[in-house]
Amino acid sequence: MDDKIRILLSEEEVAKRVKEVADEVSRDYKGKPLHLICILKGGIFFTCELAKRIDLPLTMDFMSVSSYGSGTVSSGIVKITKDLDDPIEGKDVLIVEDIIDSGNTLAYLIEVLKQRNPNSIELCTLLDKPERRVKDSVKVKYTCFTVPDQFIIGYGLDYDQIYRNLPYIGVIEQQ
Ligand code: IMP
Ligand code: MG
Repeated sequence: MDDKIRILLSEEEVAKRVKEVADEVSRDYKGKPLHLICILKGGIFFTCELAKRIDLPLTMDFMSVSSYGSGTVSSGIVKITKDLDDPIEGKDVLIVEDIIDSGNTLAYLIEVLKQRNPNSIELCTLLDKPERRVKDSVKVKYTCFTVPDQFIIGYGLDYDQIYRNLPYIGVIEQQ
């Protein structure tokens, strides 16, 4: 790996912001059956850090999706490669994602999950790239950071499956 990586958000900056968002979630969901749904694989690092800082009893489940598309924009044709273990009926669901780009993946997923009759369904994302959005229907309740239209790696985000384990958020510099 001889890619040069520029740090956009340091480990400390991310930790501080994740704590702020976790505090907001704790306030908003007090007394409710909060159910976190982590979108694998990218959402796993953020989900763990967020969940540890939420001061409420909560349950968690995991889902894996793959999005088919040509080039770098996802198509909105989404395949569920690992479904949830448990029903979400009557639960207050918070979907936890790494990044929202076109919004195609989440627009589809939210439609699928709504059919299962949760009490509520909201979205929490580590990163948002609003410039790239094509699906206006995707409303994000909690965003840690808004990022420019660049390819981001680290803290769960990969480039060809590499770099997920970086403790910070960065971009690969063009050589
Ligand atoms: P969307 O359907 O276009 O919103 O695509 C969302 C998915 O694409 C995310 O969950 C990521 O897995 C992936 N993705 C989008 N932008 C980036 C990026 O900058 N770095 C790494 N993965 C990305
Ligand atoms: Mg993802």
